[in-house]
Amino acid sequence: MTITCIEDLRVLAKKRVPRMFYDYADSGSWTESSYRANEADFQAIRLRQRVAVNLEDRSTATQMVGQDVTMPVAIAPTGLAGMQHADGEILVARACEAFGVPYTMSTMSICSIEDVAAATRQPFWFQVYVMRDRGFIERLIARARAANCSALVLTLDLQIMGQRHKDLKNGLSAPPKPTLANLLDLCRKPRWSLAMLRTRRHGFGNIVGHVQGVDDLGSLAQWTARQFDPALSWDDVAWVRRLWPGKLILKGVQDVEDARLAAASGADALIVSNHGGRQLDGAESSIRVLPEIAQAVGQRIEVHMDGGVRSGQDVLKALALGARGVYIGRSMLYGLGAMGQAGVTRALEIIQRELDLSMAFCGRTQVGQVDGGVIAKSSPQWALR
Ligand code: GLV
Repeated sequence: MTITCIEDLRVLAKKRVPRMFYDYADSGSWTESSYRANEADFQAIRLRQRVAVNLEDRSTATQMVGQDVTMPVAIAPTGLAGMQHADGEILVARACEAFGVPYTMSTMSICSIEDVAAATRQPFWFQVYVMRDRGFIERLIARARAANCSALVLTLDLQIMGQRHKDLKNGLSAPPKPTLANLLDLCRKPRWSLAMLRTRRHGFGNIVGHVQGVDDLGSLAQWTARQFDPALSWDDVAWVRRLWPGKLILKGVQDVEDARLAAASGADALIVSNHGGRQLDGAESSIRVLPEIAQAVGQRIEVHMDGGVRSGQDVLKALALGARGVYIGRSMLYGLGAMGQAGVTRALEIIQRELDLSMAFCGRTQVGQVDGGVIAKSSPQWALR
């Protein structure tokens, strides 16, 4: 099959990845209304075509938190990437390094920080939650420094978990339940299963072996449920700011008031996000709240966004509405599940080509020229600046 768009990768990933892991990636919480709104609200925005503009010497290159990127698209932290494909995190990091975009590794990864550091040469970004065991977080941040990570992404919207119906129905837990349905499904996914048999990385590599009393996935499940700290506050953000001298990015902002607090926290960037529609079902889409947040704090802190980005046109729309960078989670995971490292590279190529051509159709040859003027007047009121 010729892969021409992210949707092609999604279809292939669905065929190749065991259902419980595909569903884990491709689901939202409760009715999934915010998950769907992330994509639908992008679709509602129309672009304004211009003609007879010199389109030679085009570039999608720019910077995110002061780092050079070949396009303003980073990889979002996603849990269990190493279950979409064996050694998934290493493969994604390698694809990003070759492409020149930042890879953000999730704390809940299967490969460890050290695995990825050993497999790459360029610095990657690392994501953390605030957990009750502050000693563990301190050690994790020290490991990220030792691995030369160049930005820390602190997630603020997952102290408690939204309910994802598909995960409950599929028995997705750590360790996954070996139900008959799950075992039969594995037999139908031989490519995935064989690759998984060949790697030793099956647990949460950043955690198992680094916390006393957590030696296997069974005890890990209990530990995680106990560990995400519901008491997280802006004081903890200040604590992490003191621990991490490098670039700090706060993930999960949805509200202008919170964005102002984020801007005052000393962080370098914030990510407008509803966690891929996986937390508060009924929350606004990310693209919908981006313009007011960018307008309120964009002069004081770099504003990024994630949620629903499935094309270069989506990237262009987010830039036009005030984002300095966007993140792709599912678009990358579909590529990984479909074709491993080559699939992630394909996803990045698709998005970059779409971004380049769409910018050009709108009469822009450089990322720095993209502004509200690329949005057509027939777009929803909230998208017009
Ligand atoms: C973790 O961040 C998740 O959304 O499952």
